[in-house]
Amino acid sequence: MEKIVIAVKTQEIAEQWQKIFQTLAPNREVVVWNKNEAPMGARYAVVWQPPLALFEKEKKLQAIFNLGAGVDALGINSVVPAHVPVYRIEDAGMAVQMAEYAIYGVLLATERFSTYSKLQKQLDWAPQPPVLRSQWPIGVMGYGQIGSKVAKALAQLGYPISVWVRSERVNDEHIQFYSGRAGFDHFLKQTRVLINVLPLTEETRGIVNKECLEKMQKDGFFINMARGAHVVDDDLLSALRGGQLKGALLDVFHEEPLPKTHPFWQEPNVYLTPHIAGISLYEECAKQVIEKLSLLERGIEPTGRVSLTKQY
Ligand code: GLV
Repeated sequence: MEKIVIAVKTQEIAEQWQKIFQTLAPNREVVVWNKNEAPMGARYAVVWQPPLALFEKEKKLQAIFNLGAGVDALGINSVVPAHVPVYRIEDAGMAVQMAEYAIYGVLLATERFSTYSKLQKQLDWAPQPPVLRSQWPIGVMGYGQIGSKVAKALAQLGYPISVWVRSERVNDEHIQFYSGRAGFDHFLKQTRVLINVLPLTEETRGIVNKECLEKMQKDGFFINMARGAHVVDDDLLSALRGGQLKGALLDVFHEEPLPKTHPFWQEPNVYLTPHIAGISLYEECAKQVIEKLSLLERGIEPTGRVSLTKQY
């Protein structure tokens, strides 16, 4: 029987995944990784931030499935053996949650509703002027499974949308694309609300820094749903304190949980959430992995293969 080994952050979570996988794939043997046991001879590994020892021990792996969209914690090009293909979760119910999170951030930025809770406390019936979409141009960094859903959802709401991508794309009726380094400056110039959904790679690490934030439109807002390491925290704090940014909604951090001493906790106008912008739906993810794995066995290449050069 083909073995699937599950290696995630804790034993408890691994067992939850094991149950779901075993129910969905009763004809396969689903085991939880245990570093103290002899190699399990697993054919497939299902992982989230797995221990390095997994790849040193399990030499029979034919494919690795990452239980998330971001593969930055995997050690592509170092830990993962180059000959074993890695597949990542594509959407599986996370993109729509992230689009919703982006909308929440935009509403915080425009203060469309937050004013009313203050007014309610004062028993004040005081309709505010409408939010003019043209004053809130949005820039989305990244246009994969998640970025495209985010950009399209916001375009539907009538905001001007720019998107920054790695390689050139033809503009859409509602979306203006920019690409490459040169395109980045033009993109930032068009952007008042900056939304990050990029993969974390050597190229994108620290991309949200002083220079980037200064090039955005004034009185801007930053939404981070990707990885903390995309951001230079001190530069973000300076931009907030200097008034270049009016606020930020942050879901991801260099260190998670965010240490209690980190200034973001107390910073006025920083709204933070504990990495919940797109929560994994276990069933959806497991179904997708099993589907990919069955395709592989039928000799069909599934989508979502991680490129070693692009690192996502
Ligand atoms: C979550 O952060 C993911 O990469 O799926």
